[in-house]
Amino acid sequence: MPDDHAPLPSALAVGLAAGRPAAPLNGTIAVPGDKSISHRALMLGALAVGRTEITGLLEGDDVLATAAALRAMGAAIERRSEGTWEVDGVGLGGLAEPDGVIDLGNSGTAARVLLGILATHPFTVFVTGDASLRRRPMNRVIEPLSRFGARFVTREGGRLPLAVTGASDPVPQIYRLPVPSAQVKSAVLLAGLNTPGATSVVEKEPTRDHTERMLGHFGATVTVEPEAGGRRITVAGYPELTAAPIAVPGDPSSAAFPLVAALLVPGSEVTIAGVGLNPTRTGLLLSLAEMGADIAYLDRRTEGGEPVADLRVRAGELRGAVIPAERAPSMIDEYPILAMAAACAKGRTVMHGLGELRVKESDRLTAVATGLAACGITVAVEGDMLTVEGTGTPPQGGALIGTQLDHRIAMAFLVLGLATRKPVRIDDARTIATSFPDFVPLMRRLGAAFQEEA
Ligand code: S3P
Repeated sequence: MPDDHAPLPSALAVGLAAGRPAAPLNGTIAVPGDKSISHRALMLGALAVGRTEITGLLEGDDVLATAAALRAMGAAIERRSEGTWEVDGVGLGGLAEPDGVIDLGNSGTAARVLLGILATHPFTVFVTGDASLRRRPMNRVIEPLSRFGARFVTREGGRLPLAVTGASDPVPQIYRLPVPSAQVKSAVLLAGLNTPGATSVVEKEPTRDHTERMLGHFGATVTVEPEAGGRRITVAGYPELTAAPIAVPGDPSSAAFPLVAALLVPGSEVTIAGVGLNPTRTGLLLSLAEMGADIAYLDRRTEGGEPVADLRVRAGELRGAVIPAERAPSMIDEYPILAMAAACAKGRTVMHGLGELRVKESDRLTAVATGLAACGITVAVEGDMLTVEGTGTPPQGGALIGTQLDHRIAMAFLVLGLATRKPVRIDDARTIATSFPDFVPLMRRLGAAFQEEA
């Protein structure tokens, strides 16, 4: 019999409203482990020989989907305590055909990077995901992975669900990225592992380099050379991948939300401990500095091969800025929250080169522009450019935002609601668990006013 008096599971609280807090945000928090690094740690741990211990793993739905997929293919993956996980790898080429369909939920990284591994494992896997992931383009990985000899059957437009049969005689590739995508780069490099010879990816603009770094950490031979204004990354096939401990730094893409919240709520002072500062991820910090943000980098150090610092953030007036297209790869997931900061800044902010935002968990360019307009902010989208007119006074707010299964749209508009004259409501907060399961309690600890709605 269900107990009528038992507390409702938090997953049942779907909507949330964010209003101006009575007092400034204050305190010290740590954000969860980096999502990109967490996926890769599980994947490379599964392909290595021996036991990999991972500390600080993000226990969000996206990463748990990767863990479940790897388990279904034979890797032993156990949670030892909060954030501490052990992976007993099967060795390169040792994954086995799963019995059932692999469901990767909301995670584009899980889907695209795992397809890279599967492209050179000679068995068939059926892959699907949630409504958001089933809308997202997979041709960007299917095209290069087919060149290795993998075969794909997909829904129209290269969408999930799909079936992949990995190549039994893979052919190494030199692939020039047509879009600046770390997921595509990683898929190709990981396909190159179980392939004879050398596989290279050439990228014009640097995208996040966690795969290259971690491959080296597990013993693969990876070289990075400058080429034509960008770089060529080469991995030698059939490496002996050996288990190695991984300490996952705090996710700068998650830190971005409390960070901007602290900038926007007058009088706030918040410290975010242990934030990863890999230079391929710091575009938001650079942009906010140009907008006049007061952010101090305390105790700079290296953890798990990645630069890390504690960020001390103080509220203050922001001014509009022009954000160049070249910066997009280093802050691709941060545009929704940057747009919220821009809405509260004084003057015009112009963000160039946002085409890739259209193929994220939602069409983020449209979602941001529509949501901001509904909150009374003047915005314009022209091609791949977003312009936000900030007045330097609190925006009106008062809108209900449709989050479209997109965690970053949900968190960005909740942060905006802390600074608007009327509360901002989101229709569904559940998707936040994909990347930042403790977002709501952590923000409340700092003093954020978030009200649950049925
Ligand atoms: C990621 C790369 C980015 C980013 C995503 C995570 C990764 O996607 O948006 O959240 O872990 O490689 P693209 O590679 O499509 O730009």
